[in-house]
Amino acid sequence: MSQSLENRAHAPIGVFDSGVGGLTVAREIMRQLPRERIIYFGDTARLPYGSKSRETIIRYSRQIIRFLQEKGVKAIVVACNTASAFALEQVRKEFILPMIGVVRPGAKVAAKTSKNGRIGVIGTEGTIGSQIYTRTIREHNPKAEVIGKPCPLLVPLVEEGWLKDPITVEIATRYLDFFLKSDIDTLIMGCTHYPLLRSTLRGILGDAVNLVNPAYETARSLKLMLEEQGLINDDGEEAGLKYQFYVSDAAEKFRNFANSILPCEIEEARLVHIEE
Ligand code: DGL
Repeated sequence: MSQSLENRAHAPIGVFDSGVGGLTVAREIMRQLPRERIIYFGDTARLPYGSKSRETIIRYSRQIIRFLQEKGVKAIVVACNTASAFALEQVRKEFILPMIGVVRPGAKVAAKTSKNGRIGVIGTEGTIGSQIYTRTIREHNPKAEVIGKPCPLLVPLVEEGWLKDPITVEIATRYLDFFLKSDIDTLIMGCTHYPLLRSTLRGILGDAVNLVNPAYETARSLKLMLEEQGLINDDGEEAGLKYQFYVSDAAEKFRNFANSILPCEIEEARLVHIEE
């Protein structure tokens, strides 16, 4: 490995989302790639992304990637389904950093593991409206039938911490009723927040439906990508802060949520004026 590649392998991974949702992806990266450093950006001032236009999401993503690039990251994880759906293709053309989104890894696993080819996807209005899961699943299984359903109310319920609350169960049941009648054998939790509702969704759908967690699959794909590019950090602990968190607003609220789901305690989330 050349000296510069070795140095780059020690650089952190940039991970971003509209807010706290991408922490489910960061958590999987921490578990599967424990030697990697992470710089996380949560765009808490401008969430939700799920109801915004493609142009807006591309502009936000561009600003955040520029910020992470200035911090010296070696790769970018677009840890938001909506930004992966709307912006990833465009920003890949504009930056030379290796990038990975959360859609392809989950879509691929769903296409390969579904037995009857009937796959459900839940996500934001933006993600479902973009049809990105349908297109990506069909690249791997052209005959797959993909049934998408936006479930926007689940995001604020997760952020409220009401993961198993009767209200959450009732709303999720109302959304998933649609799938209970459509004979799917696989459901992609296509929004960063939904893996936190896994047991609630499992309780409603039963064991016959396989739940695909894009956060988990993304961390696996990230590992492969870093290995292929000689960017994996296999040198043990690095000096300095292992995980750093930045947000565009409400840092304390973010920190509290992060500490409720991450395997480590975070001391600080720093405020950044990302538009400047
Ligand atoms: N992170 C977003 C996603 O996965 C959900 C939250 C939002 O709409 O900003 O699509």
